[in-house]
Amino acid sequence: MPPSTSSDLTLSVNGEKYTLTVDHRTTLLDALRERLDMTGTKKGCDQGQCGACTVLVDGRRSVSCLQLAVAAEGREITTIEGVAEGEELHPVQQAFLELDGFQCGYCTPGQICSAIAVIEEHAAGWPSAATGDVRPEAGPPPLTPEEIRERMSGNLCRCGAYVSIVQAVARAAEAKGAVA
Ligand code: FES
Ligand code: FES
Repeated sequence: MPPSTSSDLTLSVNGEKYTLTVDHRTTLLDALRERLDMTGTKKGCDQGQCGACTVLVDGRRSVSCLQLAVAAEGREITTIEGVAEGEELHPVQQAFLELDGFQCGYCTPGQICSAIAVIEEHAAGWPSAATGDVRPEAGPPPLTPEEIRERMSGNLCRCGAYVSIVQAVARAAEAKGAVA
């Protein structure tokens, strides 16, 4: 009997469980968009280069076009559809709205998911390539525009809304005590 090319799996997305049968080659991005109708996550390059498909997997950002759906079983996936609390926008969403952090909006779901994780990573003391003093005792560096640009550099915006995106991430981070 030839080996099976598909599997039944259960994905946990935005706190809900979904059981589906997928071809083993199906990416998490395609499973979300085409099987679960969660089209908030966008497909840009489909090659891991633009960040449009960024989701959170166990709280860490992940480009879903490079992850197989079968490898996401047992992980907690958060998409842009799951970041708000009911009618209340996530602080990062609110900041993007207030500061016009988008134009066409195609990159925005990925930018927002990435920014949510960036703020957590920074608060946890993770250094970036822009961090001068990387000694653990130095603590998180100020979340300067340079730090935000470096940490968000995996998310491209074809409209070039970067100035407002940096401002929006800084505003959302202020609530956590980061100095922008
Ligand atoms: S669509 Fe995944 S990184 Fe571009
Ligand atoms: S707002 Fe259009 S690609 Fe970023």
